[in-house]
Amino acid sequence: MKSVDEKLHVSLGERSYDIITGSGVLQDAGHLFLPLLKSKRVVIVSDANVAPLYLEKLQTVLEASAIAHEAIVLPAGEATKSMAVFEGLLEDILALGIERGTCLIALGGGVIGDITGFAASSLLRGIDFIQVPTTLLSQVDSSVGGKTGINSKAGKNLIGAFHQPLMVLIDTDSLNTLPKRELLAGYAEVAKYGLLGDVEFFSWLEKNAQALIAGDQDHRKEAIVKSCAAKADVVSRDEREGGLRALLNLGHTFGHALEKECGYAGDLLHGEAVSIGMVMAFEFCAQTNLCPQIDVERVKRHLISLGMPVDLSGLPNKDWTSDLLMKHMMKDKKVKDGKVTFILVRAIGEAYLSRDVEDADLKTYLDDLLQRSRS
Ligand SMILES: NC(=O)c1ccc[n+]([C@@H]2O[C@H](COP(=O)([O-])OP(=O)(O)OC[C@H]3O[C@@H](n4cnc5c(N)ncnc54)[C@H](O)[C@@H]3O)[C@@H](O)[C@H]2O)c1
Repeated sequence: MKSVDEKLHVSLGERSYDIITGSGVLQDAGHLFLPLLKSKRVVIVSDANVAPLYLEKLQTVLEASAIAHEAIVLPAGEATKSMAVFEGLLEDILALGIERGTCLIALGGGVIGDITGFAASSLLRGIDFIQVPTTLLSQVDSSVGGKTGINSKAGKNLIGAFHQPLMVLIDTDSLNTLPKRELLAGYAEVAKYGLLGDVEFFSWLEKNAQALIAGDQDHRKEAIVKSCAAKADVVSRDEREGGLRALLNLGHTFGHALEKECGYAGDLLHGEAVSIGMVMAFEFCAQTNLCPQIDVERVKRHLISLGMPVDLSGLPNKDWTSDLLMKHMMKDKKVKDGKVTFILVRAIGEAYLSRDVEDADLKTYLDDLLQRSRS
């Protein structure tokens, strides 16, 4: 048996859990899950891309630990986080005759983690689930922290629940099959942790991200563990996003507005929107004299060196206006009393929450950005 690599603890009282990260740890799933299960039965939820790659492997190790299992495979992609698919998933799981002790296992990226976690939060008024994230984005972000949910016609992730997993099992080997574009999109969330609160980590990424992207397992593990530790720390202190947790949304308010305009069919991946959104946050802060321009250049240089998007130039040619983008920002979940909570920066590694952004300043910045993207 392989020894378990890194173990992080998310401290949330009786909802506490471990995040286990390492190369090949999927092999240990059976004996790791066994002590956590209320009954020796699980339902695995995966998607049509991930199941052919990893489902059988997981089933084999569960069998070796005498854990009964069934599997449901959903279509891959963001469209799966819909009310219709969610309803079908609940009915399919109930048709298996589950009991309160049955545990769901989310084997896949953020889409599978979000919909499976939400199903677990509502089935039989709440059953357990375990996250086995297989994309970089889900390994460093969506699988940790207990936010689950689906999309609505009114917007992304507007229907959901906080429901913490029993464990997060991160096998870094699963990234070997991930398309490069998805890997880079997930990397945006890794860079985010450095940019929002840890300049030393950002400097480490400047040195090591090329190798990490190219497949260096040690660097991948280090970046994932560091990112999960940063998220676990914030989540432990602010589980339900009363304040501090909102810092994790650096770049997301800008990014969501772009996603809303581009649609969710793959023209702009979430992580790509975050990459551009983080640059926008830095540019906006530099333009309003909150942060040095030199930091903007440093952020852009790093993201560009990896081939990540930093502006609107590669996006489908849309006739956007600053008013339109600002309208999308007003629909953000972080709006309170009609004011958007922005995540601003004083420098790399120094993000803070602000509810004092002037519409006029935002409009000036967005007009300038749109002008630049057209020229
Ligand atoms: N709950 C949260 O806190 C949170 C945080 C951030 C993002 N999210 C959500 O996460 C979702 C995005 O997650 P994602 O980027 O993982 O997308 P995803 O789940 O759609 O996965 C991306 C693509 O990669 C494929 N894939 C997954 N693992 C693979 C592997 N190992 N090898 C080959 N292909 C693989 C998937 O089938 C899919 O086609 C969005 O819905 C977003 O809203 C949630």
